[in-house]
Amino acid sequence: KISHVILTGGVGSRLWPLSRKSRPKQYLPIFGGKSLFELTAERNNSFAGNVIVVGSRDNCHLSREILEKNSIQYLDIVEAVPRNTAAAIAFAAFASDPDDVLIVTPSDHVIEGAEAYKDAIEEAIEKAHQGFIVTFGVHPTKPETGYGYIEHKGDEVVSFREKPNQVTAQMFIDKGNFLWNSGMFCFKASVLLDELKAYQPEVYQKSLEAWNSSEDGRLIEEISMEIPSISIDYAVMERSKKIKVVPAIFRWSDLGSFDSVYDYLKNMGHKVDEFGNMVIGTEHYTAFLGLENTIFVHTPNANLILHKDHSQEVKNIYGQLEKIN
Ligand code: GDD
Ligand code: MG
Repeated sequence: KISHVILTGGVGSRLWPLSRKSRPKQYLPIFGGKSLFELTAERNNSFAGNVIVVGSRDNCHLSREILEKNSIQYLDIVEAVPRNTAAAIAFAAFASDPDDVLIVTPSDHVIEGAEAYKDAIEEAIEKAHQGFIVTFGVHPTKPETGYGYIEHKGDEVVSFREKPNQVTAQMFIDKGNFLWNSGMFCFKASVLLDELKAYQPEVYQKSLEAWNSSEDGRLIEEISMEIPSISIDYAVMERSKKIKVVPAIFRWSDLGSFDSVYDYLKNMGHKVDEFGNMVIGTEHYTAFLGLENTIFVHTPNANLILHKDHSQEVKNIYGQLEKIN
């Protein structure tokens, strides 16, 4: 059978103050009254008869609300503490039959182009059945350092490089045979687990122990804490020889940080002044003096003013601000 695994453990710290601990960005109903989480569930509903949500104690009620509203049955895996995507994906695989094909997606991406999406997923499912781990490659438009890069020759993956520095990212773009990793994956449960076991035996073992001690999909904190925190990209994608890439012809945006939100809104016709300054979250007339590429973000109880180039650092503020989250 085919399952859609929705990863929703992240808090979206790079989008503070839009994204809060009590309502992470993927649950904000800002797309025609729907949230990115809801759109993600809808988008994959026709491919996968089965849904598995891997999320946190803090947000599982938000996922439940949305899925129940849409009458989507699902298996709920609730992490006591986030241990990153290698463990989160391992839990979903442990909860599946070995031959099940899993389509793993984040819950916070904007995807447009239903036909192209469908084609890509169908191609990926076919390759997953053949024993490959499939990534979806997006044509890069700038030397973004927050993404993984896939060096490829057709559907063959030559190398996978997670989050390169700026200089390296620019080199990849200049070379021309690199794609961005979209952060979605498709594979057979057994294939992913075998690769994790081979390349990160400790993550595999500790995740298995944590899973075996979970009750009703609820992980226990003490045992979970022993799982090394590593993303699936570093743990498996950078090392496995079984990776394939399917081109993502559909429109894809990861609204993960303010620079991508900025680009997305700008494309949507949101106002930007002649120096590249943008206001988000208020209709108040706002003037910028002597500033360029500055983003002003307003929410009812917190504002953020940042230079677009510092978008990746917003997560540093988040941690210090528990009380207004
Ligand atoms: N359940 C669970 N538990 N989910 C998690 C956890 C966790 O501990 N950590 C992260 N997630 C979820 C996030 O909510 C998100 O939906 C997804 O897993 C990916 O995590 P991110 O933290 O957003 O990863 P990233 O954006 O830095 O990098 C990934 O995505 C990029 C594209 O958006 C990588 O796959 C990159 O290679 C890729 O380019
Ligand atoms: Mg992300």
